[in-house]
Amino acid sequence: MALADIKSLQNFDAPFYAVIGHPVAHSLSPFIHESWMTSCNIKSRYSAIDILPADLKSGVRALADKGCRGFNVTVPHKETIIPLCGKLDESARKIGAVNTVSIDENGTLTGFNTDAFGFIRNLQVQHKDFQFADKTALILGAGGATKAIVHGLLQQNIRAIYLANRTKSKAEKLVAEVGEAAVSPIDWERRYDVLADIDLLVNATTLGMEGQPPLCFDLGRLKKGATVYDIIYKPLMTDLLQNAKDKGFHVVTGLGMLLYQAQKAFEIWHGVRPDISDEFMLELENMAQGHKKTGDKA
Ligand code: ATR
Repeated sequence: MALADIKSLQNFDAPFYAVIGHPVAHSLSPFIHESWMTSCNIKSRYSAIDILPADLKSGVRALADKGCRGFNVTVPHKETIIPLCGKLDESARKIGAVNTVSIDENGTLTGFNTDAFGFIRNLQVQHKDFQFADKTALILGAGGATKAIVHGLLQQNIRAIYLANRTKSKAEKLVAEVGEAAVSPIDWERRYDVLADIDLLVNATTLGMEGQPPLCFDLGRLKKGATVYDIIYKPLMTDLLQNAKDKGFHVVTGLGMLLYQAQKAFEIWHGVRPDISDEFMLELENMAQGHKKTGDKA
């Protein structure tokens, strides 16, 4: 659904919810949220709404005027939505990005970031014994997702985080913004040098995603017992994870990050935490792998 459709809707049942982005048509969020609305007996709807960057302000106003009470935010609006939010929660402020907005009865927007929660919860669910204290992580990539991941790991009191990014200046900028001694940038070319100390390796680049170049990463020097986490979910079992699994490392797949950030957003809007059944997880996996095409993380 495009913004123009929202503006012209005469009898849109309020309250309703949405994900906004560009592109957004292939987002899995409508399926996730509408399934949970049904299971939680909440009479509402959730739509994907394509909003161009130039239309963000008027689009958000139109949504609020039509009775939208909350929306998720995906690429490219996660940062540009901030000035439109009257309030920001601590995660959104610290990460500098918003992925969830609630709208109160006066039309005031509050911005949240549930991506860090999604990343950590997914790790805890797939690797129940993982302890963060005294652990060292290496994150590949310094894009939008990395900031939320760094925030989540720091909240869990991880000991140290290295950021290796092809463009080192982006990793350096991110480290400066975070301003924590525990986080340091390393040269992309030196990414293997720290592997013997790494307990958690995270791929937060787009490499390995369907339609993108592969991530060629040699795990030979990775610390024994380490965990390898790929936030890509299409394919679910990336080459990196398959390779890690074959070598006996713990692996964490990426779809749960999407699911748990959605669960937290649902809780913010509706005050209930929806259950995630094995059947639902399987259905979502099938959708993510084949029936819906998405490179979108929202
Ligand atoms: P997201 O919001 O998902 O983090 P993004 O902001 O587009 O996505 O970031 C993509 C990440 O993948 C970046 O860290 C990018 O590295 P650069 O900052 O150097 O662009 C990384 N990436 C993309 N293609 C890459 C490649 N061919 N080799 C190494 N890193 C790559």
